[in-house]
Amino acid sequence: MNGKSLVLSAALLCGFSFGALAQEAGDPAAGEKVFRVCRQCHHIGRGATNFYGPVLNGLIDRPAGSVPGYNYSEANKTSGKVWNVPTLTSYLRQPQHDVPKTYMTFAGIKSDKEIADVIAYIAQYDRSGAKKGEGPQPQ
Ligand code: HEC
Repeated sequence: MNGKSLVLSAALLCGFSFGALAQEAGDPAAGEKVFRVCRQCHHIGRGATNFYGPVLNGLIDRPAGSVPGYNYSEANKTSGKVWNVPTLTSYLRQPQHDVPKTYMTFAGIKSDKEIADVIAYIAQYDRSGAKKGEGPQPQ
């Protein structure tokens, strides 16, 4: 097995969506640090709810503008996007450019590695806010 296919199988084992195959897999531990900037506006994990921005649990393969009870901009709702590695990479680089008039007043992340890492961090959480593979959320 060569280096490239090792990276690919690691990405598959971590439960990445198919979109990840075209890119280097991010590092979720490094992504947790990058996520600090998102945390001002977004919550994720067990018990997370909508905040200034929509909750980010179960984000991968989620259509844009689809969290119940969150008041999205028209721009987001009509963007036609489905959030996966390529669409998030483009959005997080320049949110206002990628979805003009989005309510997300965030300048964007310049580093491709930081973008990959933060996506890997977010991708760990399923819709219930549990980390994938951890089992159902205790009551
Ligand atoms: C200053 C507040 C703020 C920061 C910081 C911020 N966001 Fe957002 N984000 C928002 C708002 C508000 C929306 C809703 C956008 C809309 O409706 O146009 C949003 C929307 C999103 C969406 C679309 C969600 C959906 O359900 O369609 C994603 C994905 C997202 N943000 C990821 C991130 C990530 C990752 C970071 C950190 C790198 C981040 N955001 C930083 C405020 C923020």
